[in-house]
Amino acid sequence: MSETDGTEGKPTTIYLDHGATSWPKPPGVSDAVASALIRHGGNPDRGTYQMAVETARAVRSARGGIASLLGVSSAKDLVFQPGCTQAMNLVLAGLLSAGDRVVVGFSEHNAVARPLHRLAQRGVEVVAVSATPSGIVDVDEMEREVRRAPTRAVICQHTSNLSGAIQPVADLTDIAHENDAIMIVDGAQAGGHIPVDLSALGVDAWGCSGHKGLLGPQGIGVLYLREGCEPDELVVGGTGAGMSEEPLQPKVRPERYEAGTMNTPGILGLGAAAHWLAEHGSAQRGLEEALTRRLHEGILGIDGFTVLGPKPGEPRVPIISAVHESEDTGRIAFLLDRQYGIACRAGLHCAPWAHRAFGTLKSGALRFGIGYGNTSEDIDCTLDALRRIVGGLE
Ligand code: ALA
Repeated sequence: MSETDGTEGKPTTIYLDHGATSWPKPPGVSDAVASALIRHGGNPDRGTYQMAVETARAVRSARGGIASLLGVSSAKDLVFQPGCTQAMNLVLAGLLSAGDRVVVGFSEHNAVARPLHRLAQRGVEVVAVSATPSGIVDVDEMEREVRRAPTRAVICQHTSNLSGAIQPVADLTDIAHENDAIMIVDGAQAGGHIPVDLSALGVDAWGCSGHKGLLGPQGIGVLYLREGCEPDELVVGGTGAGMSEEPLQPKVRPERYEAGTMNTPGILGLGAAAHWLAEHGSAQRGLEEALTRRLHEGILGIDGFTVLGPKPGEPRVPIISAVHESEDTGRIAFLLDRQYGIACRAGLHCAPWAHRAFGTLKSGALRFGIGYGNTSEDIDCTLDALRRIVGGLE
């Protein structure tokens, strides 16, 4: 079998790409998606007939469940977005303008790095701070930078999609607020994988994909906006509230930020996933932690591998990214897939800033994302396969 052509190989039997998207989904999610197509017809909040009203009720219930899972006390402060990328674009474009200064973590995903780059071209000053060897934002440097000049916002990933490091968001939020700055967080890889209580954290804006650790379908995400944090809208248009003759976007939440017909299948699917997580999330997180440690220690036991970020036992989300001293990570990922049916991801993972900090911009990394459905057998099979591949047996 060629390494460069064709798609044939062993079918995927072990899925370890939960960092990119979770699969499979827990019970209830696909039924909820289907219910939006079968039972919950009509356009929520757009009609007064019974079916549309019932669908609007189902959307409200989903919003309430997701808000409760994330510690959002007022569900209207949680707005649906197509994903975390759009949520971050909304917040950054809607809050920042020429002359503003922002201080940002070293490891931002392109969902933040690219909008910030564009804003920098339009006159926003962007200052990035460095990290500890474990991939944690340097809090002292962040504080020095925020104090050095008037700062509009502190921006940071909640957890790294490359190293799995969990950032000190509460400390960074304190630094931001003590210096009259707002705190913006990219929570894409955090939701579901670690307990998140947004009211307690006190952040001003936090976005999250619905399809990763939150275990919902693709095409839906959420953005939390603390009361009083009022970015301009990214998209304006029809809403279910605030009808007026003037073509003005209503300022009422959540409608203000949800122009256009809602993604009802996505919302109901995410609502069902939140329901499952509310009951099983704690046990699921315990399992993820154990499997992540097993994989981490196992990889470190194979000659030539280095794992980026926190050491075994240090806090992290269930992501392990590894490089090998001589084997190309793209080739390893290819062989894992085609010979063993093990799905993982190689490359830069949309995180060139983080790779630059780890010195892996050229090599990229082999990334394993652990999540719902994984077992210790999955981890052991993966370790066996890695031993064979780097041992020259493939
Ligand atoms: N942002 C996703 C990842 O980290 C796709 O893989």
